[in-house]
Amino acid sequence: MYTPTTSVLVGLAALKGASAWGTLGHATVAYIAQNYLTDATEAWAKSVLSDTSTSYLANIASWADTYRSTTAGKFSAPYHYIDANDSPPSSCNVNYARDCTSSGCSISAISNYTQRVADARLSTANTAEALKFLVHLLGDITQPLHDEALETGGNDIKVTFNGYANDNLHSDWDTYIPEKKVGGSALTDAQSWAKTLIASIDSGSYKSLASSWVSKSNINDAVTSATAWATDANALVCSVVMPNGVAALQTGDLYPTYYNKVIPTVELQIAKGGYRLADWLNKIYSANIAKRDLEGQSEELVSRMAMAAPLPPANRPSKAQLAREAYGGGCGCDKHKH
Ligand SMILES: *[C@@H]1O[C@H](CO)[C@@H](O)[C@H](O)[C@H]1NC(C)=O
Ligand SMILES: [Zn+2]
Repeated sequence: MYTPTTSVLVGLAALKGASAWGTLGHATVAYIAQNYLTDATEAWAKSVLSDTSTSYLANIASWADTYRSTTAGKFSAPYHYIDANDSPPSSCNVNYARDCTSSGCSISAISNYTQRVADARLSTANTAEALKFLVHLLGDITQPLHDEALETGGNDIKVTFNGYANDNLHSDWDTYIPEKKVGGSALTDAQSWAKTLIASIDSGSYKSLASSWVSKSNINDAVTSATAWATDANALVCSVVMPNGVAALQTGDLYPTYYNKVIPTVELQIAKGGYRLADWLNKIYSANIAKRDLEGQSEELVSRMAMAAPLPPANRPSKAQLAREAYGGGCGCDKHKH
């Protein structure tokens, strides 16, 4: 008889957890974000992704999960989580220095791709890759078990959910709890879930909360911002995911009692992820990309003006000077140095 070895079991657990928020969760985060992007950010994102459809972010929201399972993308697997070495349920906390390894983590990756997506020197393909990572990782970081080291983020906690005795807690949070709520995992399911959550943000129970979701979002300090998001979700490991410890989750079917207790948090986190993603991309666009576009336009304008009415070389202001005068800001030439 074949007895699986521990390493095979660990491998299987890792495989099962590989999808992060499942495709439903990520697509819902993306549709919510699409709703809150400014017209200018939307136009930029559509052009970066070469997708003018109504699902331009949702279409790529799970790309990073496919990529991590390829040989070329294997390096990015640790970018989907941060293994907080805390002790739930008695103590929850995230410490970037303690928890982010030299292979990287969600926080370092968000910082990296925030910088890269606005780096004018990168190719279109690399800019698109950075945007695809951000759309995905700002979703993952709101899933509490993506901010927890215990039992490999819950991948090794065997539970029963809705009659399935071989589930693990991580994949239930990623995939099966959301799918139970929504009834499917197609883009149309994500779209209708997003619609409900957007209504809660605009005029329902999230209305008074939404500004606090983005109050710590500062694109000039992505590490601190992402650490705040991870800390926020990690706290839920203690308060909602396993308030009575691991063993209490293994005494029976998590459906319906546990499911009913946690589903409001699952919805909250998805809504938060989408709203934050939009805010983050809007901020990146207005602080870095809009400015660059203006500079590009002003250079064009300056060269057209120069052609129309050449000034004597001695008196001719530099392009950078003209640009500064025209737009009142610094030239931003060193913006992307690091
Ligand atoms: C930043 O992203 C690029 C492209 O995926 C990757 O090659 C590089 O290792 C990343 N750097 C860090 C510090 O994560
Ligand atoms: Zn992921």
